[in-house]
Amino acid sequence: MMMKMRCLSFVLLLVAMLMPGRLYARVETVSSPNGDIAVNFDVKDGIPIYNVSFQGRQVIRDSRLGLELVSAKSNSDFNNFDNKQTVDQNSLYDGFSMLTTKFKSFDETWQPVWGEESNIRNHYNEMAVTLFQEALNRYIIVRFRVYDDGLGFRYEFPQQANLNYFVIKEEHSQFAMPGDLTAWWIAGDYDTQEYEFTRSRLSEIRRLLPGTITPNASQEQFSATGVQTALQLKTDDGIYINLHEAALVDYPCMHLNLDDKNMVFESWLTPDAQGNKGYMQTPCNTPWRTIMIVDDARKVLASRLILNLNEPCKIEDTSWIKPVKYMGVWWELITGKNTWNYTDQLPSVKLGETDYSKLTPNGKHGATNENVKRYIDFAAANGFDQLLIEGWNEGWEDWFGNSKDYVFDFVTPYPDFDIKMLNEYAHSKGMRLMMHHETSSSVRNYERHLEEAYKLMDKYGYNSVKTGYVGNIIPRGEHHYGQWMVNHYQYCVEQAAKHHIMVNAHEAVRPTGLCRTWPNLIGNESALGTEYQAFAGTQPGHTAILPFTRLQGGPMDYTPGIVEMDIAKFSPEKQTHVLSTICGQLALYVTLYSPLQMAADLPENYARFMDAFQFIKDVPVDWERSVYLEAEPMEYVTIARKDKHSDAWFVGCVTGKTGHDSAFKLDFLDEGRKYEATIYADAKDADYRNNPQAYVITKKKVTAKTLLKLHSAAGGGFAISIKPL
Ligand code: NOJ
Ligand code: CA
Repeated sequence: MMMKMRCLSFVLLLVAMLMPGRLYARVETVSSPNGDIAVNFDVKDGIPIYNVSFQGRQVIRDSRLGLELVSAKSNSDFNNFDNKQTVDQNSLYDGFSMLTTKFKSFDETWQPVWGEESNIRNHYNEMAVTLFQEALNRYIIVRFRVYDDGLGFRYEFPQQANLNYFVIKEEHSQFAMPGDLTAWWIAGDYDTQEYEFTRSRLSEIRRLLPGTITPNASQEQFSATGVQTALQLKTDDGIYINLHEAALVDYPCMHLNLDDKNMVFESWLTPDAQGNKGYMQTPCNTPWRTIMIVDDARKVLASRLILNLNEPCKIEDTSWIKPVKYMGVWWELITGKNTWNYTDQLPSVKLGETDYSKLTPNGKHGATNENVKRYIDFAAANGFDQLLIEGWNEGWEDWFGNSKDYVFDFVTPYPDFDIKMLNEYAHSKGMRLMMHHETSSSVRNYERHLEEAYKLMDKYGYNSVKTGYVGNIIPRGEHHYGQWMVNHYQYCVEQAAKHHIMVNAHEAVRPTGLCRTWPNLIGNESALGTEYQAFAGTQPGHTAILPFTRLQGGPMDYTPGIVEMDIAKFSPEKQTHVLSTICGQLALYVTLYSPLQMAADLPENYARFMDAFQFIKDVPVDWERSVYLEAEPMEYVTIARKDKHSDAWFVGCVTGKTGHDSAFKLDFLDEGRKYEATIYADAKDADYRNNPQAYVITKKKVTAKTLLKLHSAAGGGFAISIKPL
């Protein structure tokens, strides 16, 4: 083997020496199938450089590529590639020459197990450049795939004598912006994305960023201009650029630091407890770094760039993977009406050492037999698939914040939760229960118990689990977005697949399209979800930026559907309000795509608004086709989708702070066919601050020729179901 690799290196060296192009710059270009996007690649003074143009205009200026390895000698100026660099003994960022370039075209249409549409076209032109580092006699490949709506590139490290194991200190992939663009961003942070977005010029990030983070955020370790992806950007002449990554596997999650003098973003990976970034063994590769470039905001939402850059499904039999509409014993816990914990008697709990049956319940425990049955009755009567129950298992009296390694065992129910009886009760009504595993970020503990926990689920017929990673990671010093945790999330998804279990991980790393490869990953949180409406209220506009950012990587378990906005109604001592109208909440079932949708409010609240609740009952969670009607980041998003299993269409519009007047044709409907539309719209006087529950429901005959004009309140929206007559 070693011999073979030595031979290969020698041959490469020989080829390099004989190649006439080796000593002078040669620009290699690859364009998108429609020719709109062109990527130019070059090696200047040993440094790989690329730039990108869109319809003839440069949108990514000359940007360098490369990686710094841990034992590399320090070099203070990675940005200045005019400075001739000497070959660094252990790094992969200079001293390169271009060896070979290979081109390929690809065009296929594939069918996702679930999704926004039932057929996805994957059409790109590819250029793979082999870069040779002569002084160290080793080579890497930079592979570009260029689509009509953007591109991805990644580094590949073939196995070879002089590159076997290596440790990454930093990846230095640059994205040089064409100016001081408008950006919708959240602050860089190694452990959370639960932030509201800020819209500003790039030049304003440094000033505004400190005001957007929580005081204890690990963001402190960042540069003052570090932001997270997917990052939405817009040029003054209306080009939308979106930076993210695809197929994050066995590698740390990437942030972007901005050099705001030169308007250059550069990759910044999440470190591990030692401060190192990635531990690599060849053959291996980085995730794809993605740059979407389109001239219309709706095309950002229609793009399948991230999914296409992921590998095809690795699960052979996917028949057990089903989209899920669910309710939960959850919002009553988040709002403080009830509790996860069974008793208030324990100041601290040691796993397995407490006999709960001897303790007095606090009278506010949510996951009781009686309460769960009440939810099952309501959810089953209204056609839901599953019921999530949090706080069903022992340990919630003292579950995070004390750096406890042994927290939950994920198999021991509280004495007032009869797991067998409740599962049988749910099954008798055609529903399943949804499992909840809050790991409290004691990840070692979770991995110790994982197999038994999944076996318990198998035993009682659970097929989905919501996991959670609240608090600091154990092993201590690791981060939610580091390589170690990325591998943990992946391990759980793959183990779950063996048990035919679907996973919805909260607080996990932001998704990067892996649900194509592992469609049992049916949801993630990884952004600020509805829970913050109860904690502090979330500004309107948040749900109109999520489709451009967080949702680019995969579906979000946002948990919409709140109809009672006054949190004091749940917990009298709380002053917070959900900052949305009821119709704005209904719209989210269409505008925030997910195969996993919750109706988050309580049965007794829905009972007061059964006419509006009808939309939540009707709306499907799997789609044949999606049409993006209107969109502008943080302002409004209007989408029409056709049910995968019927001829019904559903339309949703969600608005930001200013409200929105929509006007669109229903020309997506079948020509010549008659339909009945049920329109759930904000009433004239609806307002997210002081009149959120005002709505009007109207029915109307429509055809493909109908033009609809609808007004949505600030922080509001509308929802429409359209059924053939
Ligand atoms: C945070 C999650 O986002 C929330 O949904 C869950 O209820 C709590 N953690 C407790 O696990
Ligand atoms: Ca959360």
